[in-house]
Amino acid sequence: MTITEAEVLNALKTVQDPDLRRDIVTLGFVKDVVISESSVAFTVELTTPACPVKEELQAQCEAAVSALPGVTSVQVTMTARVRARQIQEGDLVPDVKHIIAVASGKGGVGKSTVTVNLAIALAETGARVGLMDADVYGPCIPLMMGAQDERPYTKGNKIIPIQRFGVQLMSLGFLLEEGQAVLWRGPMVAGTVKQLLADVDWGTLDYLLVDLPPGTGDAPMSLAQLVPLTGVLIVSTPHNVAANIAGKAVQLFQRLNSPILGVVENMGPYIDEDTGKEVRMFHGTDGDELAKVLKVPFLGRIPFDPRISKAGDAGVPSMITHPHTEQAEGFRHIAGQVAQQSSIIAMTRRDLTRLSEAPARP
Ligand SMILES: Nc1ncnc2c1ncn2[C@@H]1O[C@H](COP(=O)(O)OP(=O)(O)OP(=O)(O)O)[C@@H](O)[C@H]1O
Ligand SMILES: [Mg+2]
Repeated sequence: MTITEAEVLNALKTVQDPDLRRDIVTLGFVKDVVISESSVAFTVELTTPACPVKEELQAQCEAAVSALPGVTSVQVTMTARVRARQIQEGDLVPDVKHIIAVASGKGGVGKSTVTVNLAIALAETGARVGLMDADVYGPCIPLMMGAQDERPYTKGNKIIPIQRFGVQLMSLGFLLEEGQAVLWRGPMVAGTVKQLLADVDWGTLDYLLVDLPPGTGDAPMSLAQLVPLTGVLIVSTPHNVAANIAGKAVQLFQRLNSPILGVVENMGPYIDEDTGKEVRMFHGTDGDELAKVLKVPFLGRIPFDPRISKAGDAGVPSMITHPHTEQAEGFRHIAGQVAQQSSIIAMTRRDLTRLSEAPARP
């Protein structure tokens, strides 16, 4: 009995991507089906290497095809090709597939800390990751990544990013003299944000994370107007003031037509090692409650952990210094959620475009 490609594809049509809510054949994920007597091999190309349900999908594919009569062995290769945000002609960074802004209402909630560790967590999965420090008022990414003494060089008319922990970095901090202060006016902020995008040789990136200053000032406004963002990640602490102001940031981005990827809770409850009891730093609105109120996804929680701030101050992020702790697992989980939400936004917008381009039915 010979097995046909059609039979294999038919079997794989029973496997659904849980986020995109379509089967993987219709989504075009199944590639290179090779049938040799009773052995079947094929590739499943997901939308991100950071897919949190990769193993689950692989097992489902194996099971579906193994169940076909006459099949004795199944080999599934899982790969990923990140599908891009909406990139139109004239885009400042056309080879950057996703731009994710990290914002907050209140200052000091841990945006920069979350951004650096998230960038490292995404890079760990094999994705190509850039980190742009758009906090033009107080650029601290060079310090947090132990790169404050670096000075990037230029090639042609482009600035080459600094590489640290598998992440490409650019910050105004690299371009200023030590201690140099800048007195900003609105148009200068927009100009600098534009330079950090267009004058830097970012190359091809799957994810460019942008660390913003707090609030709804010139930098987030300029960024959202200069490039179509995949989405905005809102960092908040379980503190009522932080939660209230987070809502304002969400409103601003929604007005600028940038999707909200979701809410990350930082400095959340932690387990005290001596007593084994949960300790809460703040007693206000939790991240999941805030997400519910704002009607956006909840992406995960990072506990309060002094090792995080110690690592940040020492210039080696906590994902690197303490890779096997709850905080590192938290960042990995959030990386998966960010990748997943980015895929959903990119694929949904693409589907909508495709539908609107489809010829009208006679
Ligand atoms: N989960 C955490 N546990 C303990 N300390 C943390 C945690 N997250 C951040 N911190 C510390 O809190 C301080 C503020 O963090 P960070 O600079 O990342 O905040 P921010 O939101 O970027 O601030 P700004 O609004 O000034 O840009 C830093 O000292 C950082 O090390
Ligand atoms: Mg910051």
